[in-house]
Amino acid sequence: MKRVLTKDGSETLYSEDYKETYHSVTGAVEESFEKYVKPCKIKAGMRVLDICFGLGLNSLAALHTAKEISITALEKDRNVLSQEVKVPEHLREDYKKIRTAAENLCYKDDKAEIKVLVGDARETIKQLNEKYDAVFLDPFSPPKNPELWTEEFFREIKKRMKKGAILATYSCARKVRSNLSKAGFEVKDGPCVGRRSPSTIAIA
Ligand SMILES: C[S@@+](CC[C@H](N)C(=O)[O-])C[C@H]1O[C@@H](n2cnc3c(N)ncnc32)[C@H](O)[C@@H]1O
Repeated sequence: MKRVLTKDGSETLYSEDYKETYHSVTGAVEESFEKYVKPCKIKAGMRVLDICFGLGLNSLAALHTAKEISITALEKDRNVLSQEVKVPEHLREDYKKIRTAAENLCYKDDKAEIKVLVGDARETIKQLNEKYDAVFLDPFSPPKNPELWTEEFFREIKKRMKKGAILATYSCARKVRSNLSKAGFEVKDGPCVGRRSPSTIAIA
């Protein structure tokens, strides 16, 4: 996997398998805060489901924002879990916790708990019995990673969300939004960050 320095100074990776970067090249860390953490209104005490943990930057932004938080992360690729990237100085302490979670598949202290379930998210999600306050949905693009953008998968996600909980995703593709609506979500524009089109928020 090739390293890519993004415009906010944080690094991401380029996937040879999917022929896409793991984050927007306009800013990997910026994307995590602006497209995921802020639209989901992450705050202390929340239970977050991070679908497609990857390098863990979305979880990092959530942990840094809330401090006291419970995160369940789904990721199929063990190789990406072993990859470390450069993050801004002010996030380095929290990034150590994310690295521990990625390497040991769990991290726990008196405030934060992170669990990583390795496997296809369509299967691992079925192991979850809890209800979540927020969901980050960050697969590769719909044409490259279609299995995680279906109505069927969105229904599985919604079953595990509290009423009124928010799902955030970067895609505003028409098909993605219509599948979210068919699965019972209320769909709205999310913020425009690093491009003209908005991201998407879906309310359970
Ligand atoms: C765009 S990257 C996610 C970036 C990540 N949120 C981060 O902060 O680094 C997409 C991730 O989805 C994972 N993925 C793709 N298909 C999957 C599947 N069916 N189940 C679980 N994870 C999957 C890939 O391995 C990759 O790590």
